Amino acid sequence: MAEKKGSILAVQLLGGLCMVVLWWLSGYGLLDGEPQDTLWRFLGRFHPVVLHLPIGMLVLLLVLEFMGLRRPDSKVSELIPLVLGVTIAVTLLAVATGTMLAYGEGADEPLVQDHMRNGIWLAMATVMLGVLRTLPSRGTYYLVLLAAGALMVITSHQGGSITHGRDYLTEYAPEPLRRLLGLEVEEEVTAARVEDLVVFEHLVQPIMEQNCVSCHNPDKLKGELNLETFSGHLAGGELGPAVVPFDVDASELLFRITLPEDDEEFMPPDEKTPLNEEEISLLAWWIAQGASADQTVGALGPMPAQVDDYVTSVFKQMITPEERARLEDAQRELYATLASIRAEYGILIQPVEAGADEFTIETHAVRNAFDDGMLKLLEPHARSFVAADLSGTRLTDGGVSSLANFVQLRSLNLSRTELVGSTLGELAALPDLESLNLYGTKIDGAAVEQLGQLTQLKQLFLTQTPLEDAEALEQLRQALPNCDVQTTAQISPLTEADKTAKSYESS
Ligand code: HEC
Repeated sequence: MAEKKGSILAVQLLGGLCMVVLWWLSGYGLLDGEPQDTLWRFLGRFHPVVLHLPIGMLVLLLVLEFMGLRRPDSKVSELIPLVLGVTIAVTLLAVATGTMLAYGEGADEPLVQDHMRNGIWLAMATVMLGVLRTLPSRGTYYLVLLAAGALMVITSHQGGSITHGRDYLTEYAPEPLRRLLGLEVEEEVTAARVEDLVVFEHLVQPIMEQNCVSCHNPDKLKGELNLETFSGHLAGGELGPAVVPFDVDASELLFRITLPEDDEEFMPPDEKTPLNEEEISLLAWWIAQGASADQTVGALGPMPAQVDDYVTSVFKQMITPEERARLEDAQRELYATLASIRAEYGILIQPVEAGADEFTIETHAVRNAFDDGMLKLLEPHARSFVAADLSGTRLTDGGVSSLANFVQLRSLNLSRTELVGSTLGELAALPDLESLNLYGTKIDGAAVEQLGQLTQLKQLFLTQTPLEDAEALEQLRQALPNCDVQTTAQISPLTEADKTAKSYESS
């Protein structure tokens, strides 16, 4: 009897000591984020193997205690001290290997810290169970046992989140369950056109999620950088902002993804699949256009061809098969209609490239017949045209209001038409119009006020027009500070030289 009392006392003392050590460990702040030498990492990597033991043992303990409660005289109760002892041992082992793993790998993010603290508390709870079970009254024992079960669920879920990511369990949860849990529900992309895609949300964010967020999220802030949110991109990390609006060269993010792949600083690291050229060009374009949080593809400036291809391919994957079929039908119909206009009236209508939804118009072959009325024929499809060459036609000022509906136009050639320019201000409705050619028209000083409204223009050709009055031209240049206004007076050897220099630059 005395012997048994002695061993109970020993268990209680040992348990108390163990709890003190664990308590100290939980508050010590061991994790400093620095990877250690290989022995710790070697031992630590047994953690994923070991950790299943405490889970299984604790479940077994709960089952046995439950059975024992229902039939106190049953034989299973005799197993309980052994099961409890093993539970304590393997839980301590899991804590030990887990601590070595986190310490050795230099992991110190908040999720790891929480997981470690809960793991230690769990170990303390099992040790406490060992001590409590030596006492005659069992009330507290059962309470702690339930608490240990709850801690086990929380801790192992956290552990899973560390290795697989926070939303691993719920990623494919049915939608009603996700709503119940207050999780984000995938919203169907409602953009009916490529232009309506929000650049950050629909194009940039998915690239980050696919390639970067596993290391750059609020739990794993590698380099102190969080790429899960828009503000995280601007806030950046240790080295400052990751994205600097309008400045591709100053943006650390772009720098990292364009390094040689074997560079130590290359992102994503560790042999992960690098971003492809199209993804990189999209990110560069987004930054160069100001790295906006909510602007759409349509609202940002024109895209380089590579970006355009990428955006189109992403859009096609985003929409449902039915929607895709509908768009393809619509496109087929558009091609057929435009082909019939071409055949009937001789107006040359061509897609900017094979299969594109954007077209150019050219009226050379029918310039003597093409007038304001014929322009109206094209109006139902006005949104499909990006460039129109109507030079030498019989178009008049009355036709300009029709042209104001061709809202995608980037380039418009009205040279040698009948225009005098009294209505040209209406073209202010074409947001993307960069180039307007009025060569050889009857535009004169009276049109300056109208032309001055076209602040979106980058190039305006006024050569061979009656508009030569220096004062009027000066007024026009002031109204259009970003526009290159070409006039007869201005054509000089210098501009020719400039042009040559430019063509060398661009080649
Ligand atoms: C496997 C983990 C991992 C992945 C995936 C990853 N990174 Fe990193 N990243 C790191 C680590 C670690 C650092 C800190 C060390 C350093 O600066 O090189 C870092 C640092 C950075 C920094 C510098 C932050 C600063 O201010 O110090 C940028 C920018 C960056 N990453 C961008 C990216 C981008 C973009 C991607 C996706 C294409 C990506 N990372 C994917 C681990 C990762």
